[in-house]
Amino acid sequence: MNEVTPAIVLGGTGYVAGELLRLIAGHPQLEVAAILSDSQPGAPVAGAFAHLRSTYPDLKFSDLDAIEALIRNSPRCALFSAAPHGVAAAIIDRLLTASAAARTRVHCVDISADFRYSNAAAYEAVYKHPHGAPARIHEFICAVPEHLQKSPTPHVAHPGCFATATLLASVPLLALGLTDTRLFVTGITGSTGSGRKPVEGTHHPHRHSDLYSYGALSHRHVPEIIACAKLATGVEPELNFVPHSGPFARGIHVTVQASLKKSIGTPQALDALKSYYKDCPFVHVSDTAPRVKDVATSNYANLSAVTNGNSIAVMSVVDNLNKGAAGGAIQWMNRLLGFAETAGLTAPAPGWT
Ligand SMILES: NC(=O)c1ccc[n+]([C@@H]2O[C@H](COP(=O)([O-])OP(=O)(O)OC[C@H]3O[C@@H](n4cnc5c(N)ncnc54)[C@H](OP(=O)(O)O)[C@@H]3O)[C@@H](O)[C@H]2O)c1
Repeated sequence: MNEVTPAIVLGGTGYVAGELLRLIAGHPQLEVAAILSDSQPGAPVAGAFAHLRSTYPDLKFSDLDAIEALIRNSPRCALFSAAPHGVAAAIIDRLLTASAAARTRVHCVDISADFRYSNAAAYEAVYKHPHGAPARIHEFICAVPEHLQKSPTPHVAHPGCFATATLLASVPLLALGLTDTRLFVTGITGSTGSGRKPVEGTHHPHRHSDLYSYGALSHRHVPEIIACAKLATGVEPELNFVPHSGPFARGIHVTVQASLKKSIGTPQALDALKSYYKDCPFVHVSDTAPRVKDVATSNYANLSAVTNGNSIAVMSVVDNLNKGAAGGAIQWMNRLLGFAETAGLTAPAPGWT
């Protein structure tokens, strides 16, 4: 199918929205129709994203009324939401309601946390505010694309960046019954993981040449990761997660450790991972430890593993803004729209950034 589908991006001047614009520019079957900005509708997109100036010389940010009109008038649309959690659900609800009234077809992938839970109470317990569109929750499923072949719902919730790296490493262990269900996870994220607005923990002098943990054993994304692991494997793991802020802008490195049920050597563990992901074009399993720079800015994920008799450690690297957000969302959208899963997503990492 060579028809181009209009893509609408929510999330304005944010990092993930910018990454969506960058990736959609290289997609053969999607074309950016509009991008919503709450703070600067009418302003040139290149003002917020100078690196996209030559790609979008004339594109301006839109307001929500203009986006709603576009949704009403486009027979088919790809809606990507990179708005903040707590905001995304109500906007998406308004746009899907407009689409239904106008009998147009919209598929949405939400990159925020708003549709990652299967009920509003679970969301509200973690995020401490009412869900913005509880009646829509059943229209979304939350999964890493590698772990759910076909979405049973018209829309998808992206599980997030730490979740993607953690689940890619953990799900094969649980699905293949290699380990017990107690997982010990250490994750290190680049500073773009915290979004565009500077705060103390992401300020360059604070973060440069340093490494520190935050939210140890209490990170709010843990219940989301557990739910995705259960959906993928039928097993509910215990997840002991210690995230860290790393001194780099892009990428995530996660190490998952667990006790093996039966002793296996490193070659067997690697074979098991390779076999599990053999049909997944974006996941590579290698014998050597993966590096963040091997995947940074790409939609690829690299994994490796070692065992020592009783324990296994699986290392996993992804780019937080691409595979962990915009790229993973496009991968899902490709499936929802019947495109090749890899469309627009195969550019490799530069290797040295
Ligand atoms: N950064 C990552 O690595 C990452 C990875 C996975 C998932 N996510 C999720 O993706 C979403 C975006 O993350 P981000 O890092 O791009 O955040 P960000 O850089 O802070 O950008 C969020 C953008 O949302 C827009 N916004 C703020 N309030 C709004 C409102 N009331 N209505 C509509 N838009 C509003 C703002 O742009 P305007 O002022 O122009 O509207 C803001 O720049 C978040 O939900 C985040 O949790 C991020």
